[in-house]
Amino acid sequence: MRNVDFLVIGSGIAGLSFALKAAQYGKVLIVTKANEDESNTKYAQGGVAVVVDKVEDSFDKHIEDTLIAGDGLCDKHIVEIVVKEGPARIDEIIQYGTHFDKTKKGIFDLAKEGGHSESRVLHYKDITGFEIERALLAQIHSNPNIEILTHYFAVELITQHHIGEFVDKKSGDIECYGIYALNTATNKVEKFLSKVTLMASGGAGHIYATTTNPVIATGDGIAMAYRAKAKVRNMEFIQFHPTALYNPGEYPSFLISEAVRGFGGVLKTKNGEEFMQNYDERGSLAPRDIVARAIDAEMKKSGDDFVYLDIRHRAKADILSHFPNIYAKCLSIGIDMTHDLIPVTPAAHYMCGGILVDEFGKSSIHRLYACGECTSTGLHGANRLASNSLLEAPVFAHRIFQHAIKVFKDNVIPDNIPEWDETDTKLSNEDILVTHNLRETQKVMSDYVGIVRSDFRLERAMRRLGLLHDETESFYKKTTLSVKLCELRNVIQNAFLVIKSAMMRKESRGLHYTTDYKPHAQKPHDTVF
Ligand code: FAD
Ligand code: SIN
Repeated sequence: MRNVDFLVIGSGIAGLSFALKAAQYGKVLIVTKANEDESNTKYAQGGVAVVVDKVEDSFDKHIEDTLIAGDGLCDKHIVEIVVKEGPARIDEIIQYGTHFDKTKKGIFDLAKEGGHSESRVLHYKDITGFEIERALLAQIHSNPNIEILTHYFAVELITQHHIGEFVDKKSGDIECYGIYALNTATNKVEKFLSKVTLMASGGAGHIYATTTNPVIATGDGIAMAYRAKAKVRNMEFIQFHPTALYNPGEYPSFLISEAVRGFGGVLKTKNGEEFMQNYDERGSLAPRDIVARAIDAEMKKSGDDFVYLDIRHRAKADILSHFPNIYAKCLSIGIDMTHDLIPVTPAAHYMCGGILVDEFGKSSIHRLYACGECTSTGLHGANRLASNSLLEAPVFAHRIFQHAIKVFKDNVIPDNIPEWDETDTKLSNEDILVTHNLRETQKVMSDYVGIVRSDFRLERAMRRLGLLHDETESFYKKTTLSVKLCELRNVIQNAFLVIKSAMMRKESRGLHYTTDYKPHAQKPHDTVF
C-alpha cells in the first residue's frame, strides 16, 4: 500500500507536465503501464500549435480556426483559455529543455497543418513528441519529489463504493481516494491512496482495427472513470487521421504527418488525379474530418485500399531536413518519398471526447482531475484542430496544479479502504479468448462505426458489442487479472460509449458523419453520460 499527496496515472505530456509542477508542493507518484516514455506523446510528429508570431498570426485567428474545426461544439471560453495561456506553457516546455526547430534567421520554423489559417506549428523535425517526452522525463528524473512506477496498470479508481457505501452519479458527492493497480512483475493488485488523483491515461485508438496510436491507447482512464460514475462527454467524435502509411500487416499504422501536406504534399487518386478540390476549396489542407471523408469516398469509388500523397515536387534536401523520420520509414519499405508517391489511408487517431472536466481539469468526481487526451475539456468540439492537443495538455496541467495545491491538504482519506479482492478468481488458461474478443471488437468498430455511419450500422455494432461485453464480463468475474483482460474490458467500455453517443446524435457534425441525418440537423449540444 502507498499513500501520496499527488497520484498521476500516465507518463505522457499531460501527466509529466502536472507532476513537475505538483512536486514543488508534495510527493508525486506516477504510475504508468508500460515503459516510462511509451505514450501517444512519444509518437507525435507535426508539433504544437501556438501563437508565437504576433505579426502574421494572432490569438483571434487561432481561436477562430479552432472554433471552425470544432464545427459548432467547442466551448469558446475554453478555446480562449488554451490559446491565450498556451504561449506561457510552451515557454515552460522549452525551459525544461525541449528543442524546436529554428530557421537560419534564428526564429522558430513554423509549420502549417490542416485547418490552420497561418503557419503556427512549432516542431522538432518530424519527431516533436519524442523530443518533448525526452525533455520532460529528464526533468522528472532529476526531481527528488517524483517517483515513477513503470509497468503498473491502473485497474480501478477507489471511491466510497469500495468502503461499502452506495454511490449515486447524480448526487455529485463521489470522492476519489486513489487507485488499485496491477503490478505486472508480481501479478498482484496493489492499493495506492492519494489526496489528489490525476487521470492522464491518454486516448483509445485501439478500439479500432487500424490506428496510429501505440498499443497503450486502450482508453483505460475513460473506462475507469466511467465505471466510477464520472461523467464522460462527446465520445462519438473519433478523429481519423487522413494519412496513415498504407503498409498491410503493420500494426499500429505509421503516421505520415499532416505537416507533409502543410509542406505542399497533395493527395491524388491511384490514377494520379488530384481530388481534394472537389470536396473543399482548402484542398489537401482542409480540416481532418473533411479530408478523411473525401479519401474514404474516393477509395469506395475506386475500390482501392489507399490514395497517394505526392511531395515529389519539393527539393530532396528540404524533405530530408523536415521529415527525416518519415523519409527513413518510407525508405525501409521501399518508398523513396522524394521520387515515389506515398500510399496513405485513414486510421483512427484521436479521441475528441472523454472524461468531462471543467476549466480547472476537475472531473465530476471530487479529488479526481483529468488532463490530456482522456478528457473532454471543450477545446476540440466535434473535431480537433491539428496540433492543438500538445497545447491543451500543458495548459490544463498548469490549471489543475493551481487548483489542486489549494485544496489537497484538506483531503482526508478514509482508513478503512480494503485491499483488492480476488476471491473466487483463478488464472486463465485461455488467454486466446481475450485476444479474439479484442480483435472482434476492433473489427466491429472499424466496419460499422468508422468515418461514415448510419443508424443501421450503429445498431448492428451495438448488438455485436453486447455479446462481446457479456462474454468478457463473465470471464472477468472468475479470472485473475491480467493487463490484456483489463484492456479488453476497457476497449469494450469505450466502444460502447462511442456507439451509444453516436446513436444519440441525430445529425452529422464534425467527425460524426451519418448517411441518415443532415449536417447540423440538431441544435448544438453535447452527449453526456
Ligand atoms: P499519452 O501521451 O498517450 O500518455 C498516456 C499515458 O498513460 C501513457 O504513459 C500510458 O502508458 C499511460 N496509461 C494508459 N493507461 C494506463 C493504465 N491503465 N495504467 C497506467 N498507465 C496507463 N498531437 C499534437 O498536438 N500534435 C501532433 O503532432 C500530434 N501527432 C500525433 C502523432 C501520432 C502518431 C499520435 C498517435 C498522436 C499525435 N498527436 C499529436 C496527439 C497527441 O500526441 C496526444 O493527444 C497527446 O500526446 C496525449 O498526451 P497524454 O499525456 O494525454 O496521453
Ligand atoms: C500530424 O503530425 O499530422 C499529427 C498532428 C496531430 O495529430 O495533431
